[in-house]
Amino acid sequence: MKTEIADEKALAYAGEIIRSGGLVAFPTETVYGLGANAFDENAVASVFEAKGRPGDNPLIVHVSKVEDAEPLCYLTEEAKRLFAIFTPGPLTIIMKKKSVIPDCVTAGLDSVGIRIPGHKLARDFIAAAGVPIAAPSANTSTKVSPTTAQAVLEDMDGKIPLILDGGQCAVGIESTVLSLAGEVPEVLRPGAVTVEDLLAYLPRVRNHKGELKVSPSPGMKYKHYAPTCDCVMASSEESAKKRYDEETAAGRRAVILGNSAYHVGDRNFYDLGATPGDVAKNIFKALRDCEKNNDLIIVEEFSEEKLEFSIMNRLKKSTQGVLI
Ligand code: TXA
Ligand code: MG
Repeated sequence: MKTEIADEKALAYAGEIIRSGGLVAFPTETVYGLGANAFDENAVASVFEAKGRPGDNPLIVHVSKVEDAEPLCYLTEEAKRLFAIFTPGPLTIIMKKKSVIPDCVTAGLDSVGIRIPGHKLARDFIAAAGVPIAAPSANTSTKVSPTTAQAVLEDMDGKIPLILDGGQCAVGIESTVLSLAGEVPEVLRPGAVTVEDLLAYLPRVRNHKGELKVSPSPGMKYKHYAPTCDCVMASSEESAKKRYDEETAAGRRAVILGNSAYHVGDRNFYDLGATPGDVAKNIFKALRDCEKNNDLIIVEEFSEEKLEFSIMNRLKKSTQGVLI
């Protein structure tokens, strides 16, 4: 199959592909998604196949406006309020599902994640399709999530007919996954809507800190965001420089990723930008750019607060917990 990259002029075609059971990759403000008609079990099965994704890891469902979520799940007043405050935008809310959502979408769970993306092209695509869109990130399972159409092409070339190109994703890390399906509201995956942001409206909300094996979010137990080369986190500029010098002395190619103020002399440095927002926007693209021509990526350690906590959540997985 030939994979085409096209802009918003291809929206009507994208809608046709979805209604006939095919897959379309599309931009959102977080990362690119790999979309299928959420009501079509065969189309959903082909999403799992194209990604190589384990069948027990549920997909979230995207709608273009909150009214379209009503037939899909038991939408509480609390959920409606949160959608009104934080969306369209990078927040997914898990609620009890209605039976129209096939079990294969939710991997047999009785809950479903609903998201209303902030990127206009994403909402226009969902509206053009005329059905809710089940979509994970558009990467091969275990690899770094794609934040450009080119990154989607690297993983999906020949597997899907169309990638809608909406430029580089502005947020750059996946949506916050908030569960309202349990006893206590819980952030299962931190994102740009932080637990600090949610606390003002949901005083009992907490970040999930459980053991992976009892995780309520199946995706959390799998290897994730792994570059194809080695990747470690540096606790200081000194340890980054020391490791870099050892690697390059041994003939290995290395790069240091850090924010604009990180000082590593004249070593090979990839500037992630000045603010936490810049770092979030650029981090996945940086990992994908650097894995291609390096043996080792050394990345700065960030703080455990607000957006940096969400960035660290991804980087701990990319580095598989290796802190130097
Ligand atoms: O920003 C995003 O959320 C992107 C864009 C494309 O919208 N999508 C995305 O999907 O990141 P995915 O499949 O890569 O990550 C969804 C996460 C997974 O960790 C999955 O296990 C969890 O959400 N999840 C989905 N449905 C769930 C449910 N019913 N209960 C608990 N966790 C759920
Ligand atoms: Mg993903």
